[in-house]
Order: sequence, then C-alpha cells, then structure tokens
Amino acid sequence: MKKIILAPSLLSADFGNLQKDIEMINRSEADWFHLDIMDGVFVPNISFGFPVVKYINRYAKKPLDVHLMIVQPERYIDEWKNAGADILTVHYEACTHLHRTIQEIKAAGMKAGVSLNPHTNVELLEDILPELDMVLIMSVNPGFGGQSFIKQSLTKIKKLRSMSDKTNPNLIIQVDGGVDKNNYKDILNAGANALVAGSAVFGAEDPEDMIKVLKKT
Ligand code: DX5
Ligand code: ZN
Repeated sequence: MKKIILAPSLLSADFGNLQKDIEMINRSEADWFHLDIMDGVFVPNISFGFPVVKYINRYAKKPLDVHLMIVQPERYIDEWKNAGADILTVHYEACTHLHRTIQEIKAAGMKAGVSLNPHTNVELLEDILPELDMVLIMSVNPGFGGQSFIKQSLTKIKKLRSMSDKTNPNLIIQVDGGVDKNNYKDILNAGANALVAGSAVFGAEDPEDMIKVLKKT
C-alpha cells in the first residue's frame, strides 16, 4: 500500500483558538501541517506570517508544509526556515529564477516544492522536475478555502505523474483545493500521493474522524 500524506490546511482552523486545532492535528492520523501564506499581491487575500508560524511550530509535532502564495518568495527563504518550515513551496508563476530559488530552499535545509496555478501547464516543469521534492497542483485558484475542485486537475496530475516516472520517481505530487471525501480517491488514482484539505477537515462535525476518512485508501 503506498503511503499517502495528508496535510490539513490551518487556513480553515479557528484562529482564535489555534492551539486546540494544532493539538487535534497532533493526535490525529494527519502527516503534516499545511500553512497558507498570502500576501494580498500574488493572491487577493492576506493570511498570516512569521510570528504566527513560529507559534504554530512551538506546538506542532509534525512537519510544517509552508505554501507561499507571495510574489518574490526568494526574499524570505531563511526566515521561513527559522520560523520552522520543513517543506517550502513557491509558485511557478511568482519566480523569475526558479532554479536558483529551489537550490536556495534546499541549501537552507528544507524540502523544495513548486506549485502550479490551475492555468499553468505541467510541461513547463520538465527541466526543473529532477530538482524538486514536491509539486503542488492547485485544484482551485489560490487565495481562499472552501472553493470547488476543478476537474481538469485530474488530467494534470496524470500527465505530471507520467513525467515524474521518467525523471523523478520519488516526486511527491500534492493536490490542494476542494479536496473532500467524495473526490480524494479519484485524485489519488490519478497519481497524487499528498492531499491538502481545509474546509473538508475543519468544516466537518468531527475533524479528527474526517482526517481518518481521508487517509483511507
Ligand atoms: C487556497 C489554499 C488552500 C486552502 C484549501 O489558496 O492554498 O490550502 O486552504 O482549502 P479547501 O480545502 O477548503 O479548498
Ligand atoms: Zn495551500
């Protein structure tokens, strides 16, 4: 059975009582914490930054998977490492010198990921693919939780998995946006092995149980 990584997105957590939701994830079957960083420029929303991530890191007992939805992400690589990031994902659309940025993330001691917006063709990653630990396929337009899954993402996942089979078989393919109990199996069957879920987890009556459901293969 192949290992599936589930990362609940704290964007849908209770910010007034973050510690409670962090502890829920600690005792659940979830694998990583997914932290969505938005700058109000790359995406039309602002979320949270270094001080909040540092506090999350103080209580979290699982890796921090930091998804940067910001312009010029190369400006803050060491700061994210210091805040506690274990995996750092930048957007393809936000990086002019993506190859250099990926090397810098790895040199800082983090796993390096690249995310694609729904309109960005996966073939654009062909030359950088061997360098990557993870590709994050956005299955909604980034900026907000609670949107519906864009079905075309399944075709992108399949295409990317067949590309990575040739040049990077250990690549983690993560899918983020509109993932729920009705579509997660299709997403995994298409070739993904990591899921992000925000509203599906925190909007559930029993979030810990929903994590268990999404981990079932
Ligand atoms: C959206 C973020 C997602 C978001 C997912 O821009 O990248 O991580 O929290 O939320 P759901 O699972 O509700 O679509
Ligand atoms: Zn995200």
